[in-house]
Amino acid sequence: MKEQIEKYLVEVAAFNSNVLQEIEQLRIRFLGKKGILGELFEAFKTVPGPDKKEAGILLNTLKNAVQEKINELRTSSEESVAEQNTTEIDLTRPVGFYETGSRHPVAIVRNRMVAIFQNMGFSVAEGPEIEDDWHNFSALNFPPDHPARDMQDTFFIEKRSSGNDISLRTHTSSVQVRTMEQTRPPIRMVFPGRVFRNEAISARSHCIFHQVEGLYIDKNVSFADLKQTLLHFAREMFGEQTQIRLRPSYFPFTEPSAEMDISCNLCGGKGCNICKYTGWIEILGCGMIDPAVLESCGIDTEMYTGYAFGIGIERMTMGLFQVKDIRMFFENDIRFLKQFGSVV
Ligand code: PHE
Repeated sequence: MKEQIEKYLVEVAAFNSNVLQEIEQLRIRFLGKKGILGELFEAFKTVPGPDKKEAGILLNTLKNAVQEKINELRTSSEESVAEQNTTEIDLTRPVGFYETGSRHPVAIVRNRMVAIFQNMGFSVAEGPEIEDDWHNFSALNFPPDHPARDMQDTFFIEKRSSGNDISLRTHTSSVQVRTMEQTRPPIRMVFPGRVFRNEAISARSHCIFHQVEGLYIDKNVSFADLKQTLLHFAREMFGEQTQIRLRPSYFPFTEPSAEMDISCNLCGGKGCNICKYTGWIEILGCGMIDPAVLESCGIDTEMYTGYAFGIGIERMTMGLFQVKDIRMFFENDIRFLKQFGSVV
């Protein structure tokens, strides 16, 4: 029996195949119900006492050798290698479904606004959201006791003993100051950005919103240039039939100042709830830059004049997309955002 097992051990060690069927035959021959190992275990019962131990060890060695051989050959067999390869490139598998995102409506409108001004030769820049008093107020001719500096409107971050307090910017006009300080005229730029005001949140106003600021400084710039630029912008944005209306207004940093309305594009001027039945929608503040502002930024007022405007993006987005509540823009509700399927 001992010699027989040793012969089988040599045979198993020498066996080699990469065909699954042949490997299966080896398994049946040795490990099958009526296989060699079964027979040997049967014969083992009759082995005389003194030889039993050695024969038992040899038998187990053979059994393990067969098992190991089969496992080893199975994993390297042609079929299993082929199978592993095909699972990586199974072209019949259904593709995974994933959702693509879309631009936020405020970003869609901002991009359109900026593109219109770029076509007119304006370049684009941005400034910080955390500002000092100089850039947000003082350089813009706000008197020290102006109500806009009040705690009710401004989110203060840090009070400074110098008076140059740090706050969240309340308008993008702060970027005008930064630009005028750093760039020499002619200047033709727009500044899109986010602004913050400590106001009660309602359907029509929020403590966060966005503006696009415009700045134009050159020789002989007049109010007529401002008006024509804004009329062209309004028609590009809302259509050829759009009318504009300029109403006298007041800003500390512009003189004269105006607010601009556009004819309501929803009711065509007849009156609806978006334009509050007036036929007009207010979209921006503007004016000729006060010489005091140009001077505080080191620009020669004998040589240069300029205009500026600040357009509210949310108000315009609400009009264009008929969104009735400004809070929708800040809630990140996917059901709302999904409706603006633009990637531009
Ligand atoms: N900064 C003003 C605001 O936030 C808008 C404005 C900008 C007015 C530029 C005139 C010129 O209301």
